[in-house]
Amino acid sequence: MSSSPNSPIVCSLPRVTIVGAGRVGSTLAQRVAEKNLADVVLLDIIAGMPQGLALDLMEARGIEIHNRQIIGTNNYADTSGSQIVVITAGLPRKPGMSRDDLLKTNAKIVVEAAKNAIAHSPNAIFIVVTNPLDVMTYLAWQATGLPRDRIMGMAGVLDSARFETFIALELGVLPADVKAMVLGSHGDLMVPLSRYATVNGIPITELLDVATIERLVERTRNGGAEIVELMQTGGAFFAPASATSVMVESILLNQSRLLPVAAYLQGEYGLEDVVIGVPCRLGCGGIESILELNLSDREREGLHTSAQSVRKSIERSQEILAE
Ligand code: NAI
Ligand code: 2OP
Repeated sequence: MSSSPNSPIVCSLPRVTIVGAGRVGSTLAQRVAEKNLADVVLLDIIAGMPQGLALDLMEARGIEIHNRQIIGTNNYADTSGSQIVVITAGLPRKPGMSRDDLLKTNAKIVVEAAKNAIAHSPNAIFIVVTNPLDVMTYLAWQATGLPRDRIMGMAGVLDSARFETFIALELGVLPADVKAMVLGSHGDLMVPLSRYATVNGIPITELLDVATIERLVERTRNGGAEIVELMQTGGAFFAPASATSVMVESILLNQSRLLPVAAYLQGEYGLEDVVIGVPCRLGCGGIESILELNLSDREREGLHTSAQSVRKSIERSQEILAE
C-alpha cells in the first residue's frame, strides 16, 4: 500500500537485541547505544535486572548525547523485528567448573535463546558470544536453521585485539597502529598469524625476535584465563563488548570490514561442518564472504587441530542435548 503525502513518517530505527544482560551483555548495550548504532533490547531471565540496567543507560543519554532507546525485558515478544540478535546468555567458566559442566549448562541456554529469538526476529543476523564459543555458535546455527551467512561467533576480534595490545606494549607504539589476525577456535588452540601482524605495514618479524613473538603469542592464547586469574570473580567484559560492537557496526553500517569471525565452514581451509574463526567480510547481509588465506603448513595444521577439538565438543554437545 503506498502512503499519501500526508501520512506520518514512520522512522524505522535499527534494533539490536542482546540476550543475557550480564557483564558482557550490559556493556555491549552501552557500546551500541553510545556509538549511536541502534536501539537496544536487553533481555535476561532475572526479573527486573535488564529493566533496571536499561533505565540506568537511558538516564545517561543526555550526558552522553544520544537518543537511542534501551529497553529491558524478560519477554522475547519485546525483541521482535531486531536486525541483529547477540547471545551472551549463559555462565562464564568459574573456578572448579569443568569444560563439560560449562558445555552442559550453556548448550541448553543458547539453544533455547536462539529458538526464542528467531521466532520473533526471523530476518535477524545472529552473533553468539557465549562460551565455549565455537560450539555454541554451531548449536545456535542448528537451532535457528539460518543460512550460514547470517550466524556467526565473536572471538577472533577479541583475540586479535589482545595480540595487538601485547605487541603494542612490547614495542611502545599506539595499539591502533598494530594490525593482527587470530584464527581458529577460542581457547588455547587458537592460531595467531604472526607473519601477517604489522605495525603500520611493517611486519613484526622485522621488529621483534622469534622468542619475543612466541611469548606474545602464548600470552594471547592465555588472554582470557589471565584476566580470570586476576579478577577471581569472573572474566573479561570490556574488550569482549568492544569486539562485539565492531561486528555489530560493520553489519549495520555495511562497512564490509575484514574481521576474524567464527563461521560455519563448508570446505574452506579443507574443513567441513564445523564452526571456527576465519577471516570474513562483514556487511549488511552478515558474512558476505570468507577469505581463504594461503596458510603455511604449520598454520594450517594449527587450524585443523583447533577444528578437531571443536568437532569433539560439538559431538559431546549433541549427546548432552539428546539426554
Ligand atoms: P554474566 O554471568 O555476567 O552474564 C550472563 C547473563 O546471562 C546473566 O545475567 C544471566 O542471568 C543470563 N542468563 C542465564 N541464562 C539465561 C537465559 N536462559 N536467558 C537469558 N539470559 C540468561 O556473564 P558474562 O561475563 O556476561 O559472560 C557471558 C558469556 O560470554 C559467558 O559464557 C562467557 O564465558 C562468554 N564470553 C565470551 C567471550 C568471547 O570472546 N566469545 C568473551 C567474554 C565472555
Ligand atoms: C575471554 O576470552 C573467557 O572467552 C573469555 O575473556
